[in-house]
Amino acid sequence: MSEEAFVTLATSDSYAKGAMVLGQSLRNHHTNRKLVALVGPHVTDCCIEALNTIFDEVCVVNVLDSGDTANLALMKRPDLGVTLTKLHCWTLTQYSKCVFMDADTMVLSNIDELYEREELSAAPDPGWPDCFNSGVFVFRPSNETHDKLLTFCSENGSFDGGDQGVLNSYFSTWATADISKHLPFIYNLSSIAIYSYLPAFKQYGHNAKVVHFLGQVKPWSYSYDTKKGEVKGSVSQQSAHMHPDYLLLWWQLYTKSVAPLLKSAYRDEPFSSGFVQHEYEDLTHQAAAPAPEPKKLSSEERKKRWEAGQIDYMGDDSFANIERKLDTFLK
Ligand code: UDP
Ligand code: GLC
Ligand code: MN
Repeated sequence: MSEEAFVTLATSDSYAKGAMVLGQSLRNHHTNRKLVALVGPHVTDCCIEALNTIFDEVCVVNVLDSGDTANLALMKRPDLGVTLTKLHCWTLTQYSKCVFMDADTMVLSNIDELYEREELSAAPDPGWPDCFNSGVFVFRPSNETHDKLLTFCSENGSFDGGDQGVLNSYFSTWATADISKHLPFIYNLSSIAIYSYLPAFKQYGHNAKVVHFLGQVKPWSYSYDTKKGEVKGSVSQQSAHMHPDYLLLWWQLYTKSVAPLLKSAYRDEPFSSGFVQHEYEDLTHQAAAPAPEPKKLSSEERKKRWEAGQIDYMGDDSFANIERKLDTFLK
């Protein structure tokens, strides 16, 4: 019987860093499947070296870009045209069945049972649950399917400018044909969904097996204070939709298992291209000049900001605060 593998994709060093955390999380939970990383030609040698220590196979692939600025603009994600590169995963015909996982996902437990599922199995997208989210899916590599997908793409384009649009149009019966192809949401818990239905998260969140840091702000957009063990919001926090516990977990994994690989890889080549340097700059910066305390907002002002989508996920509107409020209501 031929082998099965988890597959991810990184076209840049930042996404490669995400891929390393994902790969390490799969190792920590003792997967017995192979790990494959597809990388674009711009990923630097030091990242490829680090990826090689975690993954069984690192394959360099050409970047495929939709260049579909109109549809990408609708999602406010001009950067996602390159996600069409994901379609290369169907060419991994040395494997009989694979599970694709975005580089911004992380597993919280062993998920090898996913190989009992058939192509194309995936979890609902939190934005439009009749579409599947293409951050985690089960597929069967096949050159024929790969060719058909590319043809489909060139003839019809992608309704979102990225892979998820094409894949949903191609596997168009997913929503209705076979319930066994609907993965439970716990296999692709997007951080966005946590805040759109908090009571459900409170009820079922502890069962989550895969967390997906979906959206523009990624764990690597933050920095981490290794001394305090705290994540620091170095980017506009208003646009982040992240549960602080998962974010912390990502950084703990990164600091413990990934950063050491990168530092040794960078050793001979002084920080020419790395995020590692930024992190350390951030650290020293924070040590020298702590950020001023944000001014307290009235609850009216907070409500206004929440409704305008300016949510202070790390502060007043943090999960812990909301949970406390929910508990008071429920009592
Ligand atoms: N990706 C990549 N380089 C990019 C953008 C995306 O390699 O510049 C890959 C990566 O595996 C990523 C996936 O495509 O996880 C989908 O993009 P992203 O996760 O940013 O989309 P989201 O899940 O936020 O919609
Ligand atoms: C999504 C998915 C991601 C995909 C992107 C572009 O929101 O999470 O995996 O690459 O859309 O289609
Ligand atoms: Mn993603």
